[in-house]
Amino acid sequence: MPTLKINDISVNVEPGTLLLDACAQAGFPVPSYCYHPSLSPVATCRMCLVEVKGQPKLATACTTTAMDGQEVYTNSKSVADGRAGVMEFLLINHPLDCPICDQAGECKLQDYSYQYGSDDSRMVEPKRRYHYEDLGAKIVIDKNRCIHCTRCVRFTREISGGGELIVANRGAHLEVTTYSGRSMDDNPLAGNVVDICPVGALTSRDFRFNKRVWYLKPVPTINRLSPLANPIWADVDQNRLWRFRPRPQGTKLSTQFMFDADRNAWHRYDIDPATRVVAPTLGGKPAKAEDIAAALRAAGTVAVIGQGTFGCDAAQRLGDLASSPDLRYGSGDRLDQIQYPALQLSSDGVINRRGFSERGYRFGHLDELLARVRSGEVKAVVVLHDDVFSSRGETGRIREIMAAATFSLVLEPIPGEMAKAGAATLPVATYLEESDFVVNHDGELRRYQKALEPPRGVKTIAAWARELAGALYGAMA
Ligand code: SF4
Ligand code: FES
Repeated sequence: MPTLKINDISVNVEPGTLLLDACAQAGFPVPSYCYHPSLSPVATCRMCLVEVKGQPKLATACTTTAMDGQEVYTNSKSVADGRAGVMEFLLINHPLDCPICDQAGECKLQDYSYQYGSDDSRMVEPKRRYHYEDLGAKIVIDKNRCIHCTRCVRFTREISGGGELIVANRGAHLEVTTYSGRSMDDNPLAGNVVDICPVGALTSRDFRFNKRVWYLKPVPTINRLSPLANPIWADVDQNRLWRFRPRPQGTKLSTQFMFDADRNAWHRYDIDPATRVVAPTLGGKPAKAEDIAAALRAAGTVAVIGQGTFGCDAAQRLGDLASSPDLRYGSGDRLDQIQYPALQLSSDGVINRRGFSERGYRFGHLDELLARVRSGEVKAVVVLHDDVFSSRGETGRIREIMAAATFSLVLEPIPGEMAKAGAATLPVATYLEESDFVVNHDGELRRYQKALEPPRGVKTIAAWARELAGALYGAMA
């Protein structure tokens, strides 16, 4: 293992470690723009300059490998001068439009300018000007703000593969643009260029001018639409959701980026409270939970159909409602098309199949349950469902089971057709309104925290299930 000194602090690093990472490991993070752990290094921005003893010039930490015995300085005068010079060049054409820029508050140019730049400008010449351009319906580019780090260009070549973005022209006329006005609409990963743009040059049509980011509170949650339940941030303010963003786990590629469809899924959970059903229903009319418990008890043997896209706590509590352990059935058969094998590590779109299976739910046995209901062995079914994760065929099979049963209770966080078909319903919180965890296909435990407060009357799946189980079988731990 190479041992080197960074600002006179000794540090051991793995062979092949970049100086940029070694410096961070030693507690001296180095500023960077063009470097991205998932993209090829280009060393174009020169922001990560460090001094390496014995070398005549400053070195770029993002392309220099840490060597045994090296002495590196990130806090010398020459490094400070180098960074200040780079900042001055980067700001030559950059507009002072932070008050109207979406990136303000999470902009590396703002941060580094404040930390390493000058509070004055020697520029008297007029700045270069472009009109903003739509790169299709999803992305807007403001070239005035671009610092030509080429992260976005490399992303479209190396990760999404479309190569829509290019660097055109030379010198002061350098600009990031698309070939002959191509749009990014066909790129299913387009939104990521907004995340990786270190300044506010690439903005999202969906988020643009909607919210100042310093009002947003990022809450760690998961992407229910990614097969591995990838970690993401849910940005919220005043109990409203504003966007989803990736929450990278180290350099793990599949967590660095997210699909636009997954990113836009936040709209589904931004529910107008006025439209929420906030009371249990029985026979289509508002009812009390006790009435539903009494109806369940009166019906007789209870089976549970739990869709494996909910949390493990929900699965455990819901399972307690089944009259016997073999009456826990799993549902969910969403299959994802693999377009990008490096990002989509499984095609099974049921993120917590493993967690549900570990709690006794049997997947692929709904026909068996239908037969047991038809034979009169099972009288009542409790269904936990989300339309998005079941095919029409599976949804139809569950509806058949419900129709054959004496009594059916549906728990659907976003009520749909299934809720309409149930004899009773309970108003349950969405996954953003509760804290729980899933065990993904790789066996990784992925937690999610409560990001939003549910309306009064709406409870978590686990809370309802516990209440009903108490009424059916006596108080449970
Ligand atoms: S648009 Fe953003 S990501 Fe692309 S080169 Fe310019 S600054 Fe870099
Ligand atoms: S981050 Fe090293 S040169 Fe840009």
